[in-house]
Amino acid sequence: FRTLDDADLAGKRVLVRVDLNVPMDNGRVSDDTRIQAILPTLRTITEKGGKAILLSHFGRPKGRDESQSLAPVAKAVEARLGKPVAFASDCVGEDAAKAVSALADGDVLVLENTRFHAGEEKNAADFVQQLAALGDIYVNDAFSAAHRAHASTEGLAHKLTAFAGRSMQKELEALGTALEAPQRPVLAVVGGAKVSSKLELLGNLTAKVDILVIGGGMANTFLAAKGVKVGKSLCEHDLADTARQVLATAAERGCEIVLPVDAVVTKTFAANAPHRVVPVDQVAEDEMIFDAGPQTVALVKEKLKTAKTVVWNGPFGAFELPPFDAATVAVAKAVAEATKAGILLSVAGGGDTVAALNHAGAAQDFSYVSTAGGAFLEWLEGKQLPGVEALRR
Ligand code: 3PG
Repeated sequence: FRTLDDADLAGKRVLVRVDLNVPMDNGRVSDDTRIQAILPTLRTITEKGGKAILLSHFGRPKGRDESQSLAPVAKAVEARLGKPVAFASDCVGEDAAKAVSALADGDVLVLENTRFHAGEEKNAADFVQQLAALGDIYVNDAFSAAHRAHASTEGLAHKLTAFAGRSMQKELEALGTALEAPQRPVLAVVGGAKVSSKLELLGNLTAKVDILVIGGGMANTFLAAKGVKVGKSLCEHDLADTARQVLATAAERGCEIVLPVDAVVTKTFAANAPHRVVPVDQVAEDEMIFDAGPQTVALVKEKLKTAKTVVWNGPFGAFELPPFDAATVAVAKAVAEATKAGILLSVAGGGDTVAALNHAGAAQDFSYVSTAGGAFLEWLEGKQLPGVEALRR
């Protein structure tokens, strides 16, 4: 596809799809890896005299919702970029148009959350048209959102001349190099809280990996599907059939599934809340699983010793609330050490995952860290990503 090297940027209004869906803590960006990732693209556009107009989703709002505004994230972009970044309170309409026409060559503008409009996720033609009216050319630098066929990730690429941004290029190259023909056995760790959107793809993943370690909210759903009582834990009970299907497919294919054998449980959603460690079948009705326990960590470390490649998406527990970060930190350190020793090739991806690995001090020792979570898993499944396909000509 066309890259920024092929683009005539001077004086152009450049609509740049970035992924500013970053982890937040008390209204502040708690991990800005995704912001750092887009800096090369922003610098190229501004240095060549283009006007960079940034489009992104943030969270999963249903319509306009000020608690999911990109305004604080725009400030974080400004801090990293080291130059003023304007903000418009809408991504289409009069506010957006005014903000765009106020731009001088080399300026940067962040438009409000695209998901404040239903047309974004529907990839609605009239919404695509409204966005397209704000720009002359389109750049997609959001590999991590490329698994979504939304207006800003896919629709726009068909409306305006489209280019791949630097981060998009780098992600595709790095993942291809590391994982196109991985050394086996391949061990995957999939955890985190986004259960419903990831559960189905686990079935396909069992065809690609040899050992699948399931953690986080995802693991609770599997435990519940096996009849284990998980109390008040994050769990999608109505996906029990899908979970059982994944287990059956894995068994047919000879993919080993590893589930937690013990858990750290608590009654309160807070850092340092009173907690206890129990076997997974002894969670009380009023307790929540907040982390995998030490026996599970030991089990995962045993499995790691047999692997040559590790792919990781999603933390084991509520890593942002210590001590519920223990399992994620321990496994992250083990993977980082084995990678440093040349025993493993390790690739991790996802907003929360990267934040968790940074927190563990392990990210820099992984072979490659992708900004993408869901998109990374879908790429791994061998799926075509609509945001990437739309860039091909
Ligand atoms: C992500 O965080 O994986 C991307 O930003 C996509 O977010 P989504 O799963 O809400 O579409």
